[in-house]
Amino acid sequence: MAKGQAFSCSACGASFSKWSGRCEGCGEWNTISEDTGLAAGPGSKSLGGRRGRTVPLSDLATQEAPPPRTLSGMDELDRVLGGGLVPASALLVGGDPGIGKSTLLLQAAARFAGAGLKVIYISGEEASAQVRMRAQRLGLGEAPVQLGAETNLRDILTTLESERPALVIIDSIQTMWSDSVDSAPGSVSQVRAAAHELTSFAKRKGISVIMVGHVTKEGQIAGPRVVEHMVDTVLYFEGERGHQFRILRAVKNRFGPADEIGVFEMTGRGLAEVANPSALFLSERGSPSPGSAVFAGIEGTRPVLVEFQALVAPTPHSQPRRTVVGWDGSRLAMILAVLEARCGIPFTGLDVYLNVAGGLKVGEPAADLAVAAALLSAREDAALPADTVIFGEISLSGALRPAPQTENRLKEAQKLGFTAAIAPAGGKSGTAPGMSVTRAVDLVGFVGETFGAG
Ligand code: TYD
Ligand code: MG
Repeated sequence: MAKGQAFSCSACGASFSKWSGRCEGCGEWNTISEDTGLAAGPGSKSLGGRRGRTVPLSDLATQEAPPPRTLSGMDELDRVLGGGLVPASALLVGGDPGIGKSTLLLQAAARFAGAGLKVIYISGEEASAQVRMRAQRLGLGEAPVQLGAETNLRDILTTLESERPALVIIDSIQTMWSDSVDSAPGSVSQVRAAAHELTSFAKRKGISVIMVGHVTKEGQIAGPRVVEHMVDTVLYFEGERGHQFRILRAVKNRFGPADEIGVFEMTGRGLAEVANPSALFLSERGSPSPGSAVFAGIEGTRPVLVEFQALVAPTPHSQPRRTVVGWDGSRLAMILAVLEARCGIPFTGLDVYLNVAGGLKVGEPAADLAVAAALLSAREDAALPADTVIFGEISLSGALRPAPQTENRLKEAQKLGFTAAIAPAGGKSGTAPGMSVTRAVDLVGFVGETFGAG
C-alpha cells in the first residue's frame, strides 16, 4: 500500500489505514472510502524536533464581551441561532434534498442584507438566473444580495477576499471543489477539505459562513460527519415532503442552546414563520377520539403541545407490528414492557402504531406518560378528556419522574384552552392559573385514575 494512503468512514469520519467493508468505528457497511490528497492527518507527521512557539494563556475570569449579533428579523430563525447571527461564525444547515434549504437561506440572506450585512449567496447547484427567478417568486427581487454561481473554491475565496462580505452562503458544500485535493466533488475528502478551507478562511477574515449540506438516505449529512465538528452551529431542516410544516432544529450550537426549534410553513411564496406551533400541531385534532393524547412538551426553550396518536389492533401476524413515526421505537418498546410488567396490561397479539401529528419529531422522555395514555386509550377504546394535557417520564419501575419546566408546560396548555393536566408528583410543582393538575406518583396510580381499574 502506498505511503500516506488513508481511508475514512463517511458516516462517522473515523480514519483507517486500510479499506474494509464495515466501519469499526460505527458499524456501518460500505461507508469506507479512500481519502486522496489527505495523509493520515497531523498525527502522522513527525514533529522533527522543531520547537513551537509559546501559546498565550489567559485565566477563566478574562472579560469577554458577548459577541454582537445580527438579527434577521425572522424570529424562528433568530431563536434557533441562539439570538441572531454571530460574526465570523460557521454554520452547517443540513436536510433532505427538496426540503427547502435553498428557499430558507435565500430568505435569510435577504433578511440579513436588509438588516445591514453585506451578503453573498454562492450557488453551486443552480445558475444565477435560476436563483434570481426564485428570489422574484419569493418577493425578494429587490433585496441587496450578491449572487454567484460557482463551484471552484479557490475562485470563491478570491472573490470573498476582495468583496469582504459579512456573510456568505454556500449552497451546497457537496458541490464545492477544492484543487488542493484531487478527488471528485462530493467525495468525502473534497467535502472535508472544502469545508475546512472555507471555515478557516472565513474565521480569519471575520466572515460568517453558512454551508448547506444534503443529507443522505441514512439521515446523515452526506460526506463526512467531520464537517459537523468544524462548524460552530449545526442546524437540521426537517419535515415530511407531503406536509407543509418544516422544523429548523439546532443540533449543535456554540452560541446558544441546542435542541431549539423554529417552525415554518412552506407556502406558495416561500417559507412562512409559524409563531404558535402548538396551535398548528393541534389544528388537525377533531372531537376526542380513542388513542389520542396531548403532550405538553418543551422544545429548546419553548413549550410546544403535540398530539400523540395510537392505534392498537389484533394482529394477523405471528409477530405483532410496532410502528412509530416521530418518536423513538425502542422507547415505545420500553413503555409497552413497563405497562405489561408493572400494570399487568399486555399488548401481546396486538399491533401497535404510534404517530406524532404534524410531522414533529419528539425526543423528550417526558413524553412517556402521554404515549402510555395514548396506547391505553386506544387499547381500551376510551377517549381521554379533551381538555387535558399529559406529561411525565416513566422509569422501568413504573415510577413517574418529574419533568423540567412544569410551569411553562402548564401555561402553554392554558393558553391553548386546556383546563387540566396530568403530571408526575414530586419535583418543582409549578402551577398555572385556571389549570387543575392531577399529580400521579406512578404508572399504576395513573392507570387506575384515568382508566378505572385498568
Ligand atoms: P428548495 O429550497 O429548492 O430545497 P433544497 O434546497 O432543500 O433542495 O425547495 C424546493 C421545494 O420547495 C420545491 O419542491 C418547491 C417548494 N417551494 C414551494 O413550495 N414554495 C416556494 O415558494 C418555493 C421557492 C419552493
Ligand atoms: Mg437547494
